[in-house]
Amino acid sequence: MSSNFSISNILRSNIKQIKPYSTARDEYSGIALVNLDANENPYGSIDGNAYNRYPDPYQTDLKQVIAGIKNISAQHIFLGNGSDEGIDLLYTAFCNPGIDNTILCPPTYGMYKVSADTNDVKCKEVPLTSEYELDVPNILANIDDNTKIIWICSPNNPTANVLQKHDIQEIIEKSNRLVVIDEAYIDFASEPSWLASLHTYPNLVVLQTFSKAWGLANIRLGMLFASPEIISVLNKIKLPYNISGLVQSYALSVLTGDISKKDIMVKEILAERDKLIEVIQTIDGVQKVYRSDANFILVKIANAHDIYNYLVTKGIIVRDRSKIALCNDSLRITIGTPKENVLLIETLRQYTQ
Ligand SMILES: Cc1ncc(COP(=O)(O)O)c(C=O)c1O
Repeated sequence: MSSNFSISNILRSNIKQIKPYSTARDEYSGIALVNLDANENPYGSIDGNAYNRYPDPYQTDLKQVIAGIKNISAQHIFLGNGSDEGIDLLYTAFCNPGIDNTILCPPTYGMYKVSADTNDVKCKEVPLTSEYELDVPNILANIDDNTKIIWICSPNNPTANVLQKHDIQEIIEKSNRLVVIDEAYIDFASEPSWLASLHTYPNLVVLQTFSKAWGLANIRLGMLFASPEIISVLNKIKLPYNISGLVQSYALSVLTGDISKKDIMVKEILAERDKLIEVIQTIDGVQKVYRSDANFILVKIANAHDIYNYLVTKGIIVRDRSKIALCNDSLRITIGTPKENVLLIETLRQYTQ
């Protein structure tokens, strides 16, 4: 059990001491007769709209609505410019450049490593097993005094599977390190989110995003859920106005509207996924379609790279993952609309005929 886990033990000392930038909004947030405190243009935006004022740095109204949807209190929520911002800020907060290390389990989402590299944090890579599950003994054996964060992507990108619950639980309970579970694709999975375990485990961080099931990749809005202590650290080190007012008001209007459309779209995508899996297995050269708990499938197919190139010539872009560990001859294919999926299948058939 991570009972002796303490955020202040793993926080970088410079971050512990940091005095955050105090915005005009931090110093006065009530309703004023006139606002002459933030050097804004008093007349409005040049197009006549009211974008002349700085937005709420803590996105209070938006977090309140998200808290209701996710059934968790707003003090557990950090919002970032996509979940990629949360990934980067966790390194900034907890990993001393050139000293600390992180554990990741390839094949997995690329930003854990890119962000580690930009923060000069060493990556210890503990590959998934051949069944694409966590190698728990090896992960635990790789932890040393400078290991600060363990990344778990579930459902995992690019393998598409949810990782086994008892493996994740063992890592959270035995590692005594920050364990981040990236649930970008959780809406497509039949397993529940780890959000409900936040109250049990102070070392747990859960990432989710509006970029996938919610269909809002363009607005860049990611969620990070953690203890209020971790959230307050991230609030201290983030850029003061990291979520624009346009994004806040747009997301608020979407999330306070009819959100049942999200579940309807997820259902359609899952039905299309099942259809695609069935049909794609009949294509010559397909060796395996891996189990998917996400809105994409990983397909092992002979001559994957040539097929990728052929699809490109036909205007169909999938992701060639063949060069990634444990994914040789594999294409990652996002589930499209019924029409797009039919076109994909027809084009694959043309190649193999
Ligand atoms: C596993 C995983 N996490 C996070 C992200 C990034 O999400 P966002 O758009 O919120 O930055 C992606 C995007 O593909 C992803 O696959």
